[in-house]
Amino acid sequence: MTIGVFDSGLGGLTVLFRIRERLPDLPIIYLGDNGNAPYGTRSPEEIYQMTCRGVQVLFEKGCKLVIIACNTASAVALRKMQEEWVPNDKRVLGVFVPLIEKITERQWGDNSPPKKVSIRDVALFATPSTVASKAFERELGFRAIGVNVESQPCDGLVDAIELGDLYLAEQLVELYVDQLLQRLPKPEIIVLGCTHYPLVSNFFHKHFEKGVQMLDHADIVAESLKDYLIRHPDKVGEITDSICLTTGDPLYVKEKASMLAGIEVNFDKAV
Ligand code: DGL
Repeated sequence: MTIGVFDSGLGGLTVLFRIRERLPDLPIIYLGDNGNAPYGTRSPEEIYQMTCRGVQVLFEKGCKLVIIACNTASAVALRKMQEEWVPNDKRVLGVFVPLIEKITERQWGDNSPPKKVSIRDVALFATPSTVASKAFERELGFRAIGVNVESQPCDGLVDAIELGDLYLAEQLVELYVDQLLQRLPKPEIIVLGCTHYPLVSNFFHKHFEKGVQMLDHADIVAESLKDYLIRHPDKVGEITDSICLTTGDPLYVKEKASMLAGIEVNFDKAV
């Protein structure tokens, strides 16, 4: 048994790689639902159904703990899954809360009332579904007072990344950064609120001054997972091999993933 990492496609690899750096002996099964990506423009019900299906595959492969390394699924489906669907002996964690705990200077699971924090202006780049869900603002509002979030939906950016079309990705980033800066000229923190976006973080970086902090989920989630497993060693299970699965065409997905990651990433078909 092992830990599962789920994403709509290739974006969760950014989280997988950081987990591997911190926990090199941890066996991980990655599942990319490339056959159904992108999720970011789908209805909440579709996202819920697809995410449950993907997580079920990981449960059936023996995972007791699954990280949903997809903001869209975390924002739109996770709460309902935890309330209505996840079996008692399994755990599903999302990527939103650890990042928000970081921004609001909180320890894991600190559920005390919202407080004033040092940050005022946050820029969030995310998929249209994540932005529409307002989950980021909701979770932030539970923990902090007086933080202004300016959200920018980045329609088409996940498709460009999944296709490996970096030229288009760069043009789209420029367009969306421009739109955001017109509404919030001086953000203090930039959140790359989609796990695909760190794959093209250099396109974001070049539009912001050096001092501006850019956060993505990968590091923060990997650190939180390490912490979680120290406190819940029963969730690790036996050591098996790590594998990457996809609902898409494994050869095609391998080619795109390896190009974006800069190392060979092999995929098997999820059945
Ligand atoms: N990586 C997913 C996320 O973090 C992409 C969603 C999509 O498939 O559109 O939101």
